[in-house]
Amino acid sequence: MENRVEELQREIDNYAITCTDELEAFRLRFMVRKGSIAELFGELKDAPAESRPRYGQLLNQLKQSADRKYDSARKQLSALSTGEKQRHNDLTLPGRKLYQGSEHPVQKVLGDMKQIFRAMGFTIATGPEIELDSYNFDMLNFPKNHPARDMQDTFFITRKEGEDALLLRTHTSPVQIRVMLDDKPPIRVICPGKVYRNEAISARSYCVFHQLEGLYIDTNVSFADLKATIFSFAKQMFGSSVELRFRPSFFPFTEPSAEVDVTCYLCGGSGCKVCKQSGWLEILGCGMVHPNVLKNCSIDPEKYSGFAFGMGVDRTALLRYKIDDIRLLFENDVRMLEQFMQ
Ligand code: PHE
Repeated sequence: MENRVEELQREIDNYAITCTDELEAFRLRFMVRKGSIAELFGELKDAPAESRPRYGQLLNQLKQSADRKYDSARKQLSALSTGEKQRHNDLTLPGRKLYQGSEHPVQKVLGDMKQIFRAMGFTIATGPEIELDSYNFDMLNFPKNHPARDMQDTFFITRKEGEDALLLRTHTSPVQIRVMLDDKPPIRVICPGKVYRNEAISARSYCVFHQLEGLYIDTNVSFADLKATIFSFAKQMFGSSVELRFRPSFFPFTEPSAEVDVTCYLCGGSGCKVCKQSGWLEILGCGMVHPNVLKNCSIDPEKYSGFAFGMGVDRTALLRYKIDDIRLLFENDVRMLEQFMQ
């Protein structure tokens, strides 16, 4: 009896159950009423009385080990079959397209601009988009009643009599002030960023857009330095054949001031719809930093001089990528953005 129990135990241990048919064969071989374990139980009554309890114990252990093996094999097989079903279901579905992110057209243009100025020795400075009235206007030499302060142009956040108001910056020039207050000359920075104006929204203007401003302060900086810098930038940005035109202009924080046009890089200067047949496109405003602005930042205007310039980034993106509505740049519509993948 002992030998046969041992033999059956070995057989159970080595029994390979890899599919439901084998599981069923195992059950029929060991577990049913006519199986080999039940058969041994049947023989118990013929065994000598003194050995019966020990044999009974051995047979119980054998039966339990067969039960355990059967249960664990059944669980494993059923887990496998549900996994398989799921995999099969997935295989019948069409593949999911993975969208790769892409650089926004405005960031592409901004990246090119930054690179050109970085190569000329400018470093990048940034400032907050929620700005103090005094940095956005007063320190930049805006008279108290200047029309640009009008509610129509500026988004005010807090505005109390006798307090410095908080507003959304209307240009990146307050970053100049922050840089001049923090650093002493020589200063050579560009300030890229978002600016906000309370304008009627249309295909051509939006309440938020991007500017890139430049500031250079040192001893003996002249208008010729400004012209050379802008000229070098324009050739790299718009092509080596562009010509420049400086028109006298006005900004409270620069004197003298100018606006700069480049020959239209779409028609080469012969006149088209974009340049309104003039052959010129306005690209930026600039000038020599006003002595009052230097004084406001404790920089001696007798010793130092400097130039500043500021340009819009979005319009260049619109022209470069032939986008006809500025609002498309801010709506984050994937159908529009995915056209700029590469
Ligand atoms: N801040 C001016 C604007 O927003 C641009 C500018 C910057 C002009 C620096 C001159 C010098 O229109």
